[in-house]
Amino acid sequence: MQSDIECVLFDGPAIHKRLDEMAAQITADYSDRELTVIAILTGSLMFMSDLLRRIPLPLKLDCLSVVSYHGKTQTRGDVIFKQLAVPDVAGQDVLILDDVLDTGDTLAAVRKKLETAYPRSIRVCVLLSKRKQRARDVDADYVGFEIEDEFVVGYGLDFMERYRNLPYVGVLRKELLEQQNQ
Ligand code: IMP
Ligand code: MG
Repeated sequence: MQSDIECVLFDGPAIHKRLDEMAAQITADYSDRELTVIAILTGSLMFMSDLLRRIPLPLKLDCLSVVSYHGKTQTRGDVIFKQLAVPDVAGQDVLILDDVLDTGDTLAAVRKKLETAYPRSIRVCVLLSKRKQRARDVDADYVGFEIEDEFVVGYGLDFMERYRNLPYVGVLRKELLEQQNQ
């Protein structure tokens, strides 16, 4: 696995240090409210688990399973929800967690779906945000790290469902991406 990684962007200690800061910010922002966290599976699992354990507030946690990539590195633009039911978030302060903001299709679709359930507020928190032009007007309220528009894996992020268990975020070697896209 290690030999498939071109370079490590953020190692475990760097990620944990940044999560300390993000958790402190979120804790301060929601100190007088009860949070409802909606984590988007599967990529946000490690991020969710490490971030939430740093937030000493009463909160509820639910997960949404969403497919947007179909195993490839290029997004198709359509987002498929694996559950039909919308979580009951009426009147609640929702924080959506995802691994990476790329095209924004996933977060835009999740946000739109949750809005139909009349939450009191919705904010978005991502570990990574790619520096790129997005067709959609989506933004994250909390961002761990800004990265270039490169394909990264590890710490929950996958390529063809692999590499999620790497303890760091790294850039996948381009040859591996090219083989898949042929
Ligand atoms: P978006 O809908 O294009 O913003 O992409 C969101 C989803 O695509 C993320 O939740 C990831 O599952 C996946 N994704 C986007 N970029 C990457 C990447 O660089 N590595 C791994 N997965 C990615
Ligand atoms: Mg993925």
